[in-house]
Amino acid sequence: MTDLPTLVFATQNQGKLVELKGLISQKVHLISLNELNFDEDIPETTGTLEGNAHQKASTIYKRFGKPCFSDDSGLFVNAIDGAPGVDSAHYSGSRDNEKNIALLLKNLDQIEDRSAYFKTVFCLITHDNTHYFEGIVKGSIANHPRGDNGFGYDPIFVPEGYHQTFGELDKEIKKSLSHRARATQSLIEFLRKTDL
Ligand code: IMP
Repeated sequence: MTDLPTLVFATQNQGKLVELKGLISQKVHLISLNELNFDEDIPETTGTLEGNAHQKASTIYKRFGKPCFSDDSGLFVNAIDGAPGVDSAHYSGSRDNEKNIALLLKNLDQIEDRSAYFKTVFCLITHDNTHYFEGIVKGSIANHPRGDNGFGYDPIFVPEGYHQTFGELDKEIKKSLSHRARATQSLIEFLRKTDL
């Protein structure tokens, strides 16, 4: 048993849970939806990262009454009004990364401005408030997929200050500058100085 306050990470992704657990294990007892035996799909229908993160966190807070946070991420390409954005996971109508990348490259054909950014939003619901934390990494979209590291759009995203894509860069480099790492850092700093 632990005397630490329980904090729920509204995710079924064990990789994400383990990563965060290592960073705040002295402050909170972090659990995921698996420990709550919750395996329902929570709708993500608000049209924004902030809205979807809130939708997931509030569904769990209402059900279990425990402080809870959730995350949502996406790739935003400036020349096409921020697409794929909140629809990044299923831009082409399926969750197939290759199809999503192919559609994005097709939609950027002949377009000179290839600037883009990845963004992560965390929504944390405590007993007395709702907090948001975000992380962004700016970059540009390559002409062709390059590299096998990572997932999603990594093979076509070149972070600012580099020539290689996230798919080509060392995993540790991506870890140090990614949108997710930056949002995580803000959340962790808040949790370290706040009592739940
Ligand atoms: P999630 O909210 O973390 O599940 O991210 C939603 C979608 O955004 C993923 O399915 C990917 O398509 C895309 N995405 C988010 N973060 C990354 C990343 O670090 N690299 C590549 N694609 C990402």
